[in-house]
Amino acid sequence: MQKQSNLLWVEKYRPKKIEDVTGNDEAKALFLEWLKNKKHTRKAVLLYGPPGVGKTTLVMATAREFNFSVIEMNASDTRSEKAINAVAKPATSYTSLDNFSGAAKTGGNVLFLDEVDGIAGNEDRGGVNAILKIVEESLVPVIMAANDPDIEKLRPLKKVCLLVRFHQVRIPLIIALLQKICVLEHVKAEFEALERIAQNSRGDVRSAINDLQSLSEENHSLTLQDTMMLSSRNKDISMDDTLRGFFSAQSIADTSRLLSYSSVDYDDFLLSVADNLPKRYLDATELAKAFDHVSKADVFRGRIGTENWHLLKYFFNALAEASAVNPASYKPFTFITPPIRIMTLFWTKGKRTMLDAICDKIGAQCHVSHQIAREQYVPYIRLILQKKPKSPLAAWFKFTPEEVDFLVKMGRF
Ligand SMILES: Nc1ncnc2c1ncn2[C@@H]1O[C@H](COP(=O)(O)OP(=O)(O)OP(=O)(O)O)[C@@H](O)[C@H]1O
Ligand SMILES: [Mg+2]
Repeated sequence: MQKQSNLLWVEKYRPKKIEDVTGNDEAKALFLEWLKNKKHTRKAVLLYGPPGVGKTTLVMATAREFNFSVIEMNASDTRSEKAINAVAKPATSYTSLDNFSGAAKTGGNVLFLDEVDGIAGNEDRGGVNAILKIVEESLVPVIMAANDPDIEKLRPLKKVCLLVRFHQVRIPLIIALLQKICVLEHVKAEFEALERIAQNSRGDVRSAINDLQSLSEENHSLTLQDTMMLSSRNKDISMDDTLRGFFSAQSIADTSRLLSYSSVDYDDFLLSVADNLPKRYLDATELAKAFDHVSKADVFRGRIGTENWHLLKYFFNALAEASAVNPASYKPFTFITPPIRIMTLFWTKGKRTMLDAICDKIGAQCHVSHQIAREQYVPYIRLILQKKPKSPLAAWFKFTPEEVDFLVKMGRF
């Protein structure tokens, strides 16, 4: 039992079935299609895309379902031509494609070269060449995975492979996955906390699950406050990249795509877009049109709230229209990144959550509604605690030290 709880959640919840690998539906379909028809298409496939989105997991889940054996080799570990040949060469001659195709029961072999971009530098050219040769001579399908397929040295590989692109997993899908894990791990989590973890992960499911585990495993609870320390990580880069992509977009389709894969906090992003619009559209009519679209996006953001994620596409579309009022008038400019306003917004959210928790506790002890607790009780309790922070009242209400601190300092933010 003890051992079980020491398990990393990313391993414990690594999907065993293809359908449980969330997101990237197009990539999954393309890959499966290739597997089924491999006789007629290219012999090798390269799954590529950002880390932690399920590339390795998909290959392993597929192997289970199709019942084939994976001869696996992590290319970063075994880089020289000799090493690659030693592992992979014999594998290519075990089973022919004919035996393999369609024969789900009998299974077959596939060769899986994970992380092929680990083949680094010139001295490793031999590595790429050896893989090329294997693909050429192989009798079994060759599956490869990489993060960045654009590196020069992988170019020869790209020519002989079917390329299957993976994107960052969309935020709502990550949130749903985190919610599932919370149920299974008996973690009581605030929605906003899960939202922040997901947004912060930049579409990387592995890092989202790891963050969830490290923040909630001990207390089986997770509040927005707990995720505070995560919020600054990667955020500026991600915001900057998204803003750049947004303002230089050539079409509505460009922007919709960018937004659905970006990991920025939508509220922060909306604020930043509004702040920067006057720098982007110097013509007053264009600017007015753009603001009109942004205000529509704002309305949709409000309607989405914390659960109506199906409305997200309308939010994206409205924002995308704001980016493409006149693509021809775009000239690069320096963004105003408003950390102060964003921090203020974040604090307001955090404050609201903290105050809600406090009012719940007051309500439970004094049998009053949330509203009465906030309007009539909080001001007095706050005064008492400001005069005497160690008052037994705090324990009676079961306030945490953070909540006492919050009440004492209230009004100073
Ligand atoms: N699409 C997904 N659905 C469900 N879980 C996922 C998904 N992607 C990643 N995970 C979780 O993250 C872990 C790591 O995923 P995986 O190893 O497949 O990522 P990867 O895309 O191969 O990343 P890398 O490029 O770093 O190798 C998995 O064990 C699983 O728990
Ligand atoms: Mg991998």
